[in-house]
Amino acid sequence: MSNSIFRKDGTAQGVAKQRLIESLAKPDKRIIYDPYAKYFVLGASILKLMGHKFSVWLGDKIVPGMHEHLISRTRFIDDLIEKGASIDIEQYVILGAGYDSRAHRLKLTSKLKIFEVDQPEVQERKRSRLPDKTRNKGNVTYISIDFNNQSLKEQLLNVGFDQSKSTIFTLEGVSQYITKEAFNSTLKELAVLNQNSNSKIFISYVNKLIKDDPKACFGIGYSNPEKAVNFITKGSAKVGEPWISLYSAKEIEDLLSKNNFTVIENKTLADLNSKYFTPVGRTIPENHVFKLEHFVIAESKT
Ligand SMILES: C[S@@+](CC[C@H](N)C(=O)[O-])C[C@H]1O[C@@H](n2cnc3c(N)ncnc32)[C@H](O)[C@@H]1O
Repeated sequence: MSNSIFRKDGTAQGVAKQRLIESLAKPDKRIIYDPYAKYFVLGASILKLMGHKFSVWLGDKIVPGMHEHLISRTRFIDDLIEKGASIDIEQYVILGAGYDSRAHRLKLTSKLKIFEVDQPEVQERKRSRLPDKTRNKGNVTYISIDFNNQSLKEQLLNVGFDQSKSTIFTLEGVSQYITKEAFNSTLKELAVLNQNSNSKIFISYVNKLIKDDPKACFGIGYSNPEKAVNFITKGSAKVGEPWISLYSAKEIEDLLSKNNFTVIENKTLADLNSKYFTPVGRTIPENHVFKLEHFVIAESKT
C-alpha cells in the first residue's frame, strides 16, 4: 500500500474506527452495527481485543462525547435513508463516502441505485478491501472526484444518474474539508440535477463558534472545550485534512435556499441523546455532550 493512500484516508478511517467500536457493543446496547468497518481500520484486531466499553472509556478521556456524536450522526442518516428507501427514494448519492458501508449494511431495496463519490485513492482502497460476497456490491457505482476542482454533474450523468428520479444526497463529515466555493458549486450542481424531481439532502457542518466561543459547542460543564477543539482540529490537519470551512446555521440555510433547498431539520447530539442513547441505557451526561457539528436535512423546494 503506498503512502499516498494513507495520507488521504486518515479521517475516513477515523470515522470507520468509531463505527467499529460501536459494533463491538452487545446488540441491545449499540445504536448502529457496521460489520464492514473492520476491513478498513488499521489496528482493528487490537480494538476488538479492547472491546466497546474500554475503547469508549479511553476515547472519553481524550474528547468526551466524540464517539457518541459520530455514531449519532451515522444513525441519524441511517434512519433517513431507510425511511426514504421504504417510501419513494429511488437513488442515493453518498458524497465523500469514505468507508461508509450503508450500501451494504442497511437492508435496502435492490431497486435503490447507489452512487458513491470520493477521491480515487480512498475508493481504490475501499474496493480492494470489501469482501467478494458483500451484500448489494453490484448495486454501487463509484465516481472519483475532487470536489475542490472537479464537476460532479457530468460524472453522475455519465454513469446513469436519472434526473427524473427522487434522490437522497448525503454529505457526512465532509463540508469542513472542502472550500466554501467547492461546497457552493456542488450544491449548485445538485440543484440543477434535481430541478425536475423531489430530493433530500443531508449535510453536516462544523459550527463556526468553535473559533470564537468553543464553550457554546459543548454541553454545560464540559471540561476544557478549547482543548477538545484543539485536539480535533490539530489531529485532522496532521493527517493532511485540515478543517478549512466552518459555518453558522444562517449561512447553511441561506446557501441551501439559494440552491433551491429548504432546511427541515438541524440537530446535534444534544437533540438525539434521548432518542438514541436513552433507550439503550447510555444517556450522555450534559457535561459530555459534544455538539460542535450539526446535522441538517433539507428538501428541494417545490
Ligand atoms: C471524515 S471522512 C467521512 C467519510 C464518510 N462520509 C463517513 O462519514 O464515514 C471525509 C471524507 O471526505 C473525503 N474528501 C475530503 N476532501 C475531499 C475532496 N476535496 N474531494 C472528494 N472527497 C473528499 C475524504 O476522502 C473522506 O472520505
